[in-house]
This record gives sequence, C-alpha cells and structure tokens, in this order.
Amino acid sequence: MDIKFPERMTMIWLLLYLIVTSLVSANRFILSEMPVPRQAENECICSIVIPDSFPSQMIDFAEDALKNLTQLVQEEMDKLAPIIQNITSYNDAVENMTNTVLDIETNGIKDEADFLKATKQINNLADASDVLFTLLNETDDVIGDILNQVNNVSSVVWQLESFDKNGVLVTHREMAALRKQLAECEEAMTNLNFGVPGAGQLTHEFGKCDHKELVNISKPFIVKLNWRGFSYKYGAWGKDFAIGNKNPDMYWVAPLNTDQRLMEIYRLYNTYRDLLLYKNQVEKSLSQYVGFNWNYMNCGQGSGAILYNGSFYFNCHNTRNLCKMDTVTNNIKRKTVEGAAFNNWYSYSGVSWQDFDFAGDEKGLWVVYATESSKGKITIAQLDPENLNTIKTWETSLYKPNITNTFIICGVLYALKRVTAHKEIIFYTFDTNTGKEGTLDIVLEKLSDTAQSVSYNPNDHKIYMYNDGYLVTYDVMFKRQFTRRRRTVATMNTQNSLMTIHKGWQQFSAA
Ligand SMILES: *[C@@H]1O[C@H](CO)[C@@H](O)[C@H](O)[C@H]1NC(C)=O
Ligand SMILES: *[C@@H]1O[C@H](CO)[C@@H](O)[C@H](O)[C@H]1NC(C)=O
Ligand SMILES: *[C@@H]1O[C@H](CO)[C@@H](O)[C@H](O)[C@H]1NC(C)=O
Ligand SMILES: *[C@@H]1O[C@H](CO)[C@@H](O)[C@H](O)[C@H]1NC(C)=O
Ligand SMILES: *[C@@H]1O[C@H](CO)[C@@H](O)[C@H](O)[C@H]1NC(C)=O
Ligand SMILES: *[C@@H]1O[C@H](CO)[C@@H](O)[C@H](O)[C@H]1NC(C)=O
Ligand SMILES: *[C@@H]1O[C@H](CO)[C@@H](O)[C@H](O)[C@H]1NC(C)=O
Ligand SMILES: *[C@@H]1O[C@H](CO)[C@@H](O)[C@H](O)[C@H]1NC(C)=O
Repeated sequence: MDIKFPERMTMIWLLLYLIVTSLVSANRFILSEMPVPRQAENECICSIVIPDSFPSQMIDFAEDALKNLTQLVQEEMDKLAPIIQNITSYNDAVENMTNTVLDIETNGIKDEADFLKATKQINNLADASDVLFTLLNETDDVIGDILNQVNNVSSVVWQLESFDKNGVLVTHREMAALRKQLAECEEAMTNLNFGVPGAGQLTHEFGKCDHKELVNISKPFIVKLNWRGFSYKYGAWGKDFAIGNKNPDMYWVAPLNTDQRLMEIYRLYNTYRDLLLYKNQVEKSLSQYVGFNWNYMNCGQGSGAILYNGSFYFNCHNTRNLCKMDTVTNNIKRKTVEGAAFNNWYSYSGVSWQDFDFAGDEKGLWVVYATESSKGKITIAQLDPENLNTIKTWETSLYKPNITNTFIICGVLYALKRVTAHKEIIFYTFDTNTGKEGTLDIVLEKLSDTAQSVSYNPNDHKIYMYNDGYLVTYDVMFKRQFTRRRRTVATMNTQNSLMTIHKGWQQFSAA
C-alpha cells in the first residue's frame, strides 16, 4: 500500500513554512529598519522614508491567505490522523487476508467456520476500502484545493519578494544618503562655514538676475528639527533674504503653535553653528500679558513670515494687516492690504492660515495673497520694505487653494503642486518682469508630507523649507551662461549644462 498523503502534507508544510518566513522577514524589514527621529542638543537628526511603492496591501492579502491555509491544513491533518489509523488496520486486514488465502491454498478449506472467517475478512476488506476510497477521494479534492491556494499565495509571495528587493534597495540608498548627511551634519558642527558659500566664491553671481533660468532643484538637505520639537509641524524658517543686509548669516526659526495658526514666538541665531547647536539664540515673544489676559495683537498668523533686512515680516494675527517687526528695536509697523482675503479664507492646499506668504529676492520684498474679488486667484504684490506700502501688484490665474506653496526668484513666482507624500512639482511660473505665465516641470523631493513654508534666499541660492517640523534646504540650479571666447563656439551641451552654487555633496557637476 502506497501512503502518499503524509508526504504531500509535508510538502504543503514546507511551502507554508517558506511563506511564513518570507512574510516574517518582510515585516521585520518594515518595522526595524525605520529609525526613530530624535531630537536632542548637539545631535544630528535623521529620519527615513519608507518607499511609497511598498506593497503593504499584498502583505495583508498574503497574511490573510496564510491564516486561511494554516487553518485548512490543520483541518486536513485532523482528518488524516484517523485515515492513517484506518490505513493501518486496512493493512492488517490485507495481511490477515493474505495469510488466510495462503493457508487455504496450502491446506485447503478445513471446515465451514474457516470459510466463513475468510469471507468475513474479504467483506471487511471491501468495506474498509470503500470507506477509505471515499475518504481519500474527498481528501484528494481538498488537498488539490489547498495546493492551488498554496500556488496562489506563493505567486503573491514571489511578487512580494521582488517588490521587497526593490524596497530594500531604495531603503539602502536612503540610508546611505542619510549617513552622509549625518556625517556632514557632524562636520558642520565643527566647521563654521559648512554649507555656506565661501567668501569670494561665485559672489558675483549673487544678487544678479541676468538670464537666471531655474533648471533644477537638488535633493533635500536636512538641517535640523525645529527647536520646539517634533509636534510643532507648522512654521517657517530661513536666513535674512535681503541682498546686502547687515547680518547675512542671521537665521530665524518660527514654529507656529500646534493650532497651525498662532505665531507667538520666534528665534534668531547669528550663525549657522548656533542654529545647529541651538545656542546663543535671541528669542522674540510676540504675545503680551495685559490686565490678566493674553493679548495676541502683535502675534503672527500662519507660516508665511520671513526675515528681511533685519526686520521680521508677517501677517498680523486675526487681520488682513501686514506686520513688520524691527528685530533690534522690537517696534512693530502695520499696513492693511485692502481687498485681501484673510483668516484662512484662501490658504494653500494642505497648509492652513497662510493667507499672506512673504518673499524676498534679488528684486526686493514681495507678498503673495489672494483677493476676495478674484475669488482666490493669487495676487503678487511688491512692497516697500520701509513702510509696507504696495509698489505694484500682478494678478495671476492661479487659484491659491489649489497649490501647495510658492517662492519668488528674480521677480518670477514659482508655484508648487503635490504629487505624492514625498514629491512636489514646480509646475507654474509668473514673471512679473513681463507679466507672462509659464509652465515648468521640476521635481522637488520632500522628507515629509507637507511643505509648510517654502522660500528662496537670493544670498545663497537656496530654498528653505519648513517640512512638517524639519528645517530643510535645497540648492537651486540655474542654466549656466558661458561668455563666448574668441574663436570658440559654445555647443548645445555646454549651453545646457547645470551650474552649482557651493561645495559639498549636493554639488552638481556640469553635465
Ligand atoms: C480567508 O477566509 C475568509 C473567510 O472565509 C475570506 O473572506 C477571505 O477572502 C479569505 N482570504 C483569502 C486570501 O483567501
Ligand atoms: C475507520 O474504519 C472504520 C471501519 O473500518 C470506520 O468505522 C471508521 O469510521 C473509519 N474512520 C474514519 C475516520 O472514517
Ligand atoms: C488479524 O488476525 C489477528 C489474529 O488472527 C486478529 O487478532 C486481528 O483482529 C485480525 N485483524 C483484522 C483487521 O482482521
Ligand atoms: C471522487 O468521487 C467522485 C464521486 O463522488 C468521482 O466522480 C470522482 O471521479 C472521484 N475522484 C477521483 C480523483 O477519484
Ligand atoms: C488567487 O486567489 C484569488 C481568490 O481565490 C483570485 O482572485 C486570484 O486571481 C488568485 N490569484 C492567482 C495568481 O491565482
Ligand atoms: C534634477 O535634480 C534631481 C535631484 O538631484 C535629479 O534626480 C534629477 O535627475 C535632475 N533632473 C535633471 C533633468 O537634471
Ligand atoms: C536695508 O536697510 C538699510 C538701512 O538699514 C538700507 O540702507 C538698505 O537699502 C536696505 N536694503 C534693502 C535690500 O532693502
Ligand atoms: C482646482 O483644481 C481642481 C482639480 O484639479 C480643478 O477641477 C479646479 O478647476 C481648480 N480650480 C480652479 C479655480 O482653478
């Protein structure tokens, strides 16, 4: 008798084992390779992004199927135990029968009792085979079903593994980049000028606008978590954006309260090193305790604030006024923007209360807002930094709640749109020099989902992003301009190559 079912069961167990181990390893990869962001004094922070493409729904399916299969197999094992017993007794019966037949063959039938015993044995055998046959037939079908399902799950697991391999590769790449950033962060703590353009290096480029055409944005450089911590996801940060300002190395960090609305406090740092170490800060508190009540009149609203030429510009709390706070005297000036929508009426997509978004570029001070009359279309206003008077305005066709943020370079507004949690595209431009709109397609990678504020600094050609609490910078790349030398003809290639702004890993070599 050929008992093959236990062998097939072994095979199924083996398959299940393989599935279980691949699932377990897939799970382990997700959970344990994800470093927790940490915040502490003198510490470099890192965070990791789990790729969007990781097929968690496939894991769910496979886990579900595995549970079902385990149950099925267990049921079959339970059924199999008595079958094996029956097969054993069947074997015994066959053995007895064989002995009886042999006995009859050699000795002949001794008496009727002997004969009855033989026929009884044959009948028993027949009954047993019937029972066994039905059992085996049914089991066969169920086992066939199980094998089909095992094949089904195996194919899912196989797909999963191929996905997982990619996931591991992506994660490894990101880990490598993070290690590099950590190393640089550590270097930055001991090197005052790290990440800051060296004196005399390309300085002639800064502040000028001739042929400044944006061609690409570098990968994000994570500088630090904001000083208030991980839960302060809303805010703005940067450097003084005015060309030729007195303290070009002065950084500001302004995390909003967790209501996403109130800017009650911000800090200034005189150097990059101070910012990295969170020391020697000047803290500005904007709320006042008057007559047993807190007064928020001088506070800001939303994350559109910037530091420009030694003054802090922001939307005054609960109004359509612009505020300017002199960081030396702490005097505050106000100016109403007639017709501007305010109090979270037409804020950016995914970002609340940013009704007024300030910008400072090569051409001066700007504020971007939406008007009530245009029903949410973006207006760009150039401001007199001294008194906040509007010098000129441009109305665009861009619906403010449809875009995630904007920044301005040389009087050209660039607008962002969300693609995924880790990707934005710069898709729209408005040139105030010509009054023309344009389209673009430049990808901006994000560490975290929401870019709470995005601003360009003309003094270092960097974009400053407050990315869900993280302070992040990007290098901006412009089309390289060659001055033609005599007898040299510039090729298309060199005309189009990219230019880098400063040293470091973010540098992009001329292609
Ligand atoms: C597992 O069994 C449940 C209940 O019978 C069923 O709804 C589900 O679709 C099964 N899952 C798979 C992957 O076969
Ligand atoms: C095993 O065989 C006996 C008869 O030989 C039968 O009564 C019994 O039900 C069988 N066991 C199972 C689990 O079918
Ligand atoms: C086989 O023969 C032995 C001895 O004659 C008997 O005890 C046993 O019950 C028989 N087994 C079957 C399954 O008929
Ligand atoms: C299983 O039994 C059914 C009848 O119950 C029969 O039609 C079928 O052919 C059997 N299958 C096998 C594999 O013997
Ligand atoms: C796996 O089984 C499910 C449901 O039983 C079915 O929808 C799916 O097409 C099967 N997949 C493969 C690869 O056979
Ligand atoms: C733009 O920069 C990104 C980030 O480094 C890079 O991946 C991409 O290839 C660049 N695109 C072009 C067109 O150079
Ligand atoms: C910055 O302020 C100084 C006076 O404090 C002024 O002379 C200078 O023009 C201002 N720069 C800009 C870019 O507004
Ligand atoms: C905003 O975006 C949505 C979806 O893309 C689009 O249907 C709608 O027309 C846009 N609104 C305006 C005013 O552009």
